[in-house]
Amino acid sequence: MAAFPQERFSSHGGRTGPALFHDRGLVDRTLTMRGATEEDLPELVRVDREAFPDDPYPYFVLRQLFDLHADQLLVLEDGERLHGYVLFVISPDRYRGWIVSLGVTRDQRGRGLGRRLMLEVLRRLRAESVREVRLTVEPANDAAITLYRSLGFSSDEGVRKDYFGAGEDRLIMTLGL
Ligand SMILES: CC(C)(COP(=O)(O)OP(=O)(O)OC[C@H]1O[C@@H](n2cnc3c(N)ncnc32)[C@H](O)[C@@H]1OP(=O)(O)O)[C@@H](O)C(=O)NCCC(=O)NCCS
Repeated sequence: MAAFPQERFSSHGGRTGPALFHDRGLVDRTLTMRGATEEDLPELVRVDREAFPDDPYPYFVLRQLFDLHADQLLVLEDGERLHGYVLFVISPDRYRGWIVSLGVTRDQRGRGLGRRLMLEVLRRLRAESVREVRLTVEPANDAAITLYRSLGFSSDEGVRKDYFGAGEDRLIMTLGL
């Protein structure tokens, strides 16, 4: 993954409530989805580094993304630590949303957290009458591509060569809302 601005993947300040999730038949009463706060920044950096070990956001980029888009930065927490986050942004004309970053810690993968974060983003975008959502993903990232396809994303635009600079091709995926 490359540097800012990057599609790797509102809260309106409040918690979305105790999080029951039923993906894969699991019910986890301990994970809460909520909007990020400034105090989350060190944990966000940790989760991002774990999710993108080869190319994490520098601290200052996450800081600025938070400053700009805190209401579109959702985290999953267990009361002590963060286990995943998603950042989405809506274009100025409000036609299009972008999933800028999505990451789940290694030990929590495959438990429905990524899907849960994405479903909440899609819900919020629809509520905002956004018409289309886009994201980019490394063409070899099977887990993420499978997740996005299962949510209805298509990749008709295919792979954009050198999208994030030399050798950093990305698959463009879109979903009409
Ligand atoms: C991609 C990522 C966010 C998925 O999060 P997750 O919490 O593990 O995903 P979920 O458990 O919600 O799985 C949702 C779906 O994704 C797909 N999926 C997840 N892991 C997969 C894997 N290892 N292989 C294939 N498909 C996978 C499945 O379709 C799954 O649905 P199912 O549970 O009905 O089979 C996570 O693997 C991650 O953080 N990866 C590193 C960072 C990254 O690549 N982010 C995306 C950048 S574009």
